[in-house]
Amino acid sequence: RDPLDLPTRPQIVKEGTEVTISCSHDDSSLLVMLWYQQKADNHSLTLIGSGYANSAQTYEGQFEKQFELTREDTLRGALIVRSAKPSDSAVYFCAFVVCSGAYPAYFGEGTRLTVLEYNVTAPTVKILPPSSKECKNKKKTLVCVASGFYPDHVSVFWQISGENVKDGVATDNNAVRKNESYSITSRLRVSAEAWRLPDRTFTCTVTFFNGTGYEPYSDSVKGTLGKSI
Ligand SMILES: *[C@@H]1O[C@H](CO)[C@@H](O)[C@H](O)[C@H]1NC(C)=O
Repeated sequence: RDPLDLPTRPQIVKEGTEVTISCSHDDSSLLVMLWYQQKADNHSLTLIGSGYANSAQTYEGQFEKQFELTREDTLRGALIVRSAKPSDSAVYFCAFVVCSGAYPAYFGEGTRLTVLEYNVTAPTVKILPPSSKECKNKKKTLVCVASGFYPDHVSVFWQISGENVKDGVATDNNAVRKNESYSITSRLRVSAEAWRLPDRTFTCTVTFFNGTGYEPYSDSVKGTLGKSI
């Protein structure tokens, strides 16, 4: 059962912007709306506030000044961040319950908000072919490094000659921040034979959300490179 219909598209805004994150569901028995904040450095959910339609919403102390909860009706509501600050960057979840107390809460998928501290910058993507130090007949590891991007709304996928591959792929869970930008790496392990086949192209694509849309950034290497290893 999934009563929530939520925008999962991230929001990237400049400091000082008023941000509205909407939430709706389709079960009129779920009367109470709740909103939670999840910061990247602390995966737990912190309650922002909650309330019924047609009545005042209640806030946890630290959120009262900066956040406002609105209810259009039982099925719809929103979280408003009055004047977004970088410290408001987080994932925001709405949830609905029948009434306050020991009832199960139905959660949406969450909306990621980034309040920009620097200019939006697309990634540079580079594949490092297998190291010549890897044993000749063992599996080969290709490393894809995406760097220099901001903010960190990215996902990584691999293709071999145009076909998506999932087996043997390991991507960092999070991009790592250094100064004003992020980097992330992904590894693809293939058999030595697969790597030696000529005319195979290994492509790593990083999909970057620039604030309005998703743009792909890729690098490719040819399997024939393996002959020299
Ligand atoms: C962001 O991505 C969208 C959609 O792909 C594109 O139309 C737009 O030009 C990009 N904006 C910038 C600033 O690169």
